[in-house]
Amino acid sequence: MKDLMYTVHAEDYARAIQKNIYNALLERPSMLSMLPELGGKAVLDLGCGPGAYCKHFIEHGATVRATDISAEMVQLVQQQFGDTLTAYQQDLNHGLPQEQNQSADIVVCPLTIHYLEDLLPLFTEVRRVLKDNGSFFFSTHHPMVDFSASPSGNYFKRELVTEEWDTIGKPVTVQFYRRSLTELFESIQKAGLCVANLEEGKPSEAMKEQHPEDYAYLSTHPNFIFFECKKLD
Ligand SMILES: C[S@@+](CC[C@H](N)C(=O)[O-])C[C@H]1O[C@@H](n2cnc3c(N)ncnc32)[C@H](O)[C@@H]1O
Repeated sequence: MKDLMYTVHAEDYARAIQKNIYNALLERPSMLSMLPELGGKAVLDLGCGPGAYCKHFIEHGATVRATDISAEMVQLVQQQFGDTLTAYQQDLNHGLPQEQNQSADIVVCPLTIHYLEDLLPLFTEVRRVLKDNGSFFFSTHHPMVDFSASPSGNYFKRELVTEEWDTIGKPVTVQFYRRSLTELFESIQKAGLCVANLEEGKPSEAMKEQHPEDYAYLSTHPNFIFFECKKLD
């Protein structure tokens, strides 16, 4: 199924995630709090979407390369940031053929791996492009939360889930893969990476002020999960 959320509705999505609860007030602040100093670092942003992360990386002095499967998303990034970064279209299922070995200090992949059926090809490519002391950060839906949408009721089975999300203010059908924590961990390990840090996200103080009920809920219920991975020797 063609993913309309990130193609036809790319501009609406870009607007929606600037200030919304799940991206702007939960996922991004949680992920950004895990990142090291960015000044002078080579950052590769996988599944960059409309560039909310790219903006942060550029403003903090990183050299940024960004990719997304959606031509519309890549265009939005190029329109905003011009030649202050390199952005191009890439299906992560086909690896990172345009990236050099050991070229990135930091690879980020926020909220994108659940669109990939098999993680091992991408994670293996991430290992190839990471510098030896580099870090790979990714976030995804918390396996516990996605299990509530399991068609089979078997937590350990990888499954394609179809849902309607109202991220852009009207329902849009989205499909993604849910998988167990075990499968996530095994994909990391088989790719020659190891987990250096794992977090479950923290709603921002801005959410507390602007959306106190959501803040109370998301302070007591996980929604996303965040990994920092390093290369195994
Ligand atoms: C939820 S958005 C996240 C965007 C951005 N990382 C952020 O957090 O603001 C997911 C992005 O993954 C991209 N995507 C989905 N499948 C992909 C694939 N196979 N290869 C590359 N990008 C993909 C979508 O086009 C979309 O821009």
